[in-house]
Amino acid sequence: MTTYTLTPSEKTSISIFPKHKISRIDRNIYSGFTEHMGRCIYTGIYDPSNPHKHLLTPEGFRKDVLDELRPLSIPVFRYPGGNFCATYHWQDGIGPVSQRPARPELAWGAIETNHFGTDEFMAWCAAVHAEPYLCLNFGTGTLDEALAWVEYCNGTKDTYYANLRRANGHAAPYNVKYWALGNEMWGDWQLNQMTESAYADRAWQWAKALKLLDPSITLILCGKEGPTSWDYHVLKHCLRPAGLSDLGEAQTPLIDMHSIHLYTASEDHYENATAPLAAERSIEVCSALIDLAFVENKLPATQTRPKICFDEWNVWSPPRAPGSKCAEEKYTLSDALAVAVWLNVLVRKARDLGMACIAQSVNVISPLMTTETGVIKQTTWFPYELFCRFMKGHTVAVHLECDAYTGPTKPDWVRATKDTPWLDVSATLDDEGYVTMCVVNIHLDTDLSTAVNGTAGAKVRVFSITGSHEKITNMAGKEEVGIQESEWDSSANADFVFPRCSVTMLRWKQE
Ligand code: AHR
Repeated sequence: MTTYTLTPSEKTSISIFPKHKISRIDRNIYSGFTEHMGRCIYTGIYDPSNPHKHLLTPEGFRKDVLDELRPLSIPVFRYPGGNFCATYHWQDGIGPVSQRPARPELAWGAIETNHFGTDEFMAWCAAVHAEPYLCLNFGTGTLDEALAWVEYCNGTKDTYYANLRRANGHAAPYNVKYWALGNEMWGDWQLNQMTESAYADRAWQWAKALKLLDPSITLILCGKEGPTSWDYHVLKHCLRPAGLSDLGEAQTPLIDMHSIHLYTASEDHYENATAPLAAERSIEVCSALIDLAFVENKLPATQTRPKICFDEWNVWSPPRAPGSKCAEEKYTLSDALAVAVWLNVLVRKARDLGMACIAQSVNVISPLMTTETGVIKQTTWFPYELFCRFMKGHTVAVHLECDAYTGPTKPDWVRATKDTPWLDVSATLDDEGYVTMCVVNIHLDTDLSTAVNGTAGAKVRVFSITGSHEKITNMAGKEEVGIQESEWDSSANADFVFPRCSVTMLRWKQE
């Protein structure tokens, strides 16, 4: 998207160029995340002791949660953490449930019963029609354990852990493709926190061994937020040829993606709604660091350039919803706008992204909440639903002429590095020939009458998310915020009015 700030006599306009494709969108940008944290797994996706048995599948999964998630075609779910990974021993979570050990859980101060483990997660992924993405324990875990987990999941030969999986009733390998080399190992909350060079050495050695065991896996390096010296260092150290002839090609890369995380939030609406632009700049800088590692390490042009795996993103204020108290955010309409801006960012930056995971998918900092008897869709559910359904195929070019918000931002550096127009826009062209454009009007008081160029007179379906006030939530048992559908005849040449404090998706067939 290019933006231009108006002079007083000019009017707001959006010009969309559906034939100008910018990049293919990897559907994995709409992935999810389920951590052993708070009520995400237990009572979120897995609830065997719920007295309302009609809510459960025979495996004890919440049917209502599956029924909400399945239509979104969420491609991948990350598991089992998060910070939880740093003390998780996967072998505690396999075999007969009654014999599994309960353990103190140190990341969130809970007790982990291990009643839900690898085989249950694989069954849940099959039920929700998604692929699993597992995060390895870089805290108290060992390389032997990590290798054993890959063998348990993917082994096809007559070997100990592959046979253990078979003995547990799972003859076919799970073929888990995505594996993360630890989680947030830079954080001072992390068990066995590491320096960047200690992490990079370890990640490199583990990656060699893991790829020797299963060269088909996709390995994801633990970055930080993108524009940091940690990201620079670990990329520089780990983006180099393996030099292992057993891996086939001499230049086989060990690292396939680079993970970054960011949560944004503010009690001030404008800071809240513009904060996701920090993620956009972070992706841009991180992408440049990937290029820099290529240049400095003199990597051959034939080597595949890793993409960014933004495997934790969302609106989250830890002081408002602390992790140790289950992090159950109550999202407002302002947060729904912020999530829509986040999703616009992911679409605009699709060229650089191999995956992105909303953190998290149920109950914990999540758009979807469970009660004992049903589910609540929070305000942030609705932009996520619309993007999952419609914003696919290719990102296409958009030019925006619009006035800008000029106040403070959070972080501060958004102000210095990004434009902050009142309208935030992204657009896609899908493989069926539908153009979809998402426009977020972050202004709290002003509807923006906008010339929309490029619809070619089409009949346009309109999906609108708004409400009476930016602070309203859906948590009081009433769906205050939802999706309103209507139609707009763009042949009448009238402006489209984007209401104050709203998310609008326009969708039409490209002739
Ligand atoms: O998603 C909640 C937590 O936030 C994750 O466990 C951790 O990786 C991050 O700090």
